[in-house]
Amino acid sequence: MAESASPPAPMFSLRGCVAIVTGASQGLGRETARALAEAGSDVALVARNAARLETLAEEIGQAGRRVLCLPADVTRPEEIKAAISRIAGDWGRIDVLVNNAGITRDGLVMRMKREDWDSVLQTNLTGAFLCTQAVLPVMIKARYGRVINMASVMGQMGGAGAVNYSASKAGLIGFTKALAREVASRNITVNAVAPGFFDTAMTGELPENTLRQVLETIPLGRAGAAREVAAGVVYLASREAGYVTGHVLCINGGMYM
Ligand SMILES: NC(=O)c1ccc[n+]([C@@H]2O[C@H](COP(=O)([O-])OP(=O)(O)OC[C@H]3O[C@@H](n4cnc5c(N)ncnc54)[C@H](OP(=O)(O)O)[C@@H]3O)[C@@H](O)[C@H]2O)c1
Repeated sequence: MAESASPPAPMFSLRGCVAIVTGASQGLGRETARALAEAGSDVALVARNAARLETLAEEIGQAGRRVLCLPADVTRPEEIKAAISRIAGDWGRIDVLVNNAGITRDGLVMRMKREDWDSVLQTNLTGAFLCTQAVLPVMIKARYGRVINMASVMGQMGGAGAVNYSASKAGLIGFTKALAREVASRNITVNAVAPGFFDTAMTGELPENTLRQVLETIPLGRAGAAREVAAGVVYLASREAGYVTGHVLCINGGMYM
């Protein structure tokens, strides 16, 4: 067999891609943005805290990737539309959208304030809808795209004291599957990642005894590392994952099977 002129690109290379990560200012989103850049992608960073985005952008820029900081609130359609137009205008393409921005406002259902229900649904679910709706025209035109939604084990098994959060993440899984069917004919894949328990600002406020109880439910016996979620996102963002859509990738140490 004749040898090909140039060596094939390494597996999971994202060289030449443009990726957007929401909630990139800290935690799983920050690590995901780093990992996408490491795999070769240019990255656009979205979150409300501009200073934190700048710090990450400097780090990614030093590693040789193009980076855009776009401070925006995912619940505000006009801010999201402006951010997406800027990326499409400056870079001319959007290959990957990671809907990662999320919040918790835990409390027992009987005492949950309406505003805590609304803000969690608006950020975690409506935010993903708004970002996806803004990005899809670019992906449809290119007949290529990867949408990756950060769900949660709580959306699969339910979390007592977090009906708002669990409902938002279960909703995101339904959103993922419905959209996967809707845009498959345009060569756009839509998948979810469902992390279990990771040590970030989101989980950092749990009381010591709750933390111990959670760890006891994890067969692998430890919290996950943010890089383990980022690796799953890089896989789903890659060309090699082109035949995977409507899938929920559980990265949870066996907490839910
Ligand atoms: N940690 C876990 O164990 C775990 C488990 C399962 C799923 N998850 C999911 O993973 C994602 C990341 O969680 P994390 O643990 O990394 O939490 P985190 O450290 O609290 O980070 C949340 C991120 O979301 C951003 N964000 C929140 N509201 C936003 C808004 N309205 N507009 C734009 N950005 C917003 C925050 O940035 P700004 O404040 O700068 O806006 C921040 O960058 C979330 O969707 C979470 O539900 C986490």
